[in-house]
Amino acid sequence: MFKSLLQSRLAISFRTLNCALPQGALPISRPLLPSLHSLSLPQQRHISYTRPLLHGHLHKPKPGEELHITFITKTGEELSFEVAEGDNLLDIAQANHLDMEGACGGSCACSTCHVIVDPEHYDILEEPDDDENDMLDLAFGLTETSRLACQINMSKEIDGIRVALPAMSRNLQAKDFN
Ligand code: FES
Repeated sequence: MFKSLLQSRLAISFRTLNCALPQGALPISRPLLPSLHSLSLPQQRHISYTRPLLHGHLHKPKPGEELHITFITKTGEELSFEVAEGDNLLDIAQANHLDMEGACGGSCACSTCHVIVDPEHYDILEEPDDDENDMLDLAFGLTETSRLACQINMSKEIDGIRVALPAMSRNLQAKDFN
């Protein structure tokens, strides 16, 4: 069907082309056009995909350099993972199908990646910057050790960190400010 459609389109183009030639010019003959048989037309579209688990920006930890993180879910379940240095907590949570929305994709423009860090590790983390503090102010159920997961990268210093997912997160939209 695609081929016959293309054939009719080419025939129309061919006529239009010759009509547009200046008077006295030799008409373009059909053999000058590429034969349809010489065109390799795609018969089928091939779509490749990767498993959702492989999306994101997680790195495979090198043997012996694995870091550890435990998420405590809303139901109190504790899930531990071995991760690589540099991976951020939002990517880790999403790659492991935890319930963390990350509405702004990690650009510190929402509070849907809000986590509550255990006090032991909270003190080791660098202070949140002004942008993160502004977003944290909008987080539901803010605590003394709240942080945004997308702003925390795994490092040796916080190996073994434990973070809890809050019961709810708030995704503010423009209409919420009216
Ligand atoms: S994903 Fe929006 S601030 Fe972290």
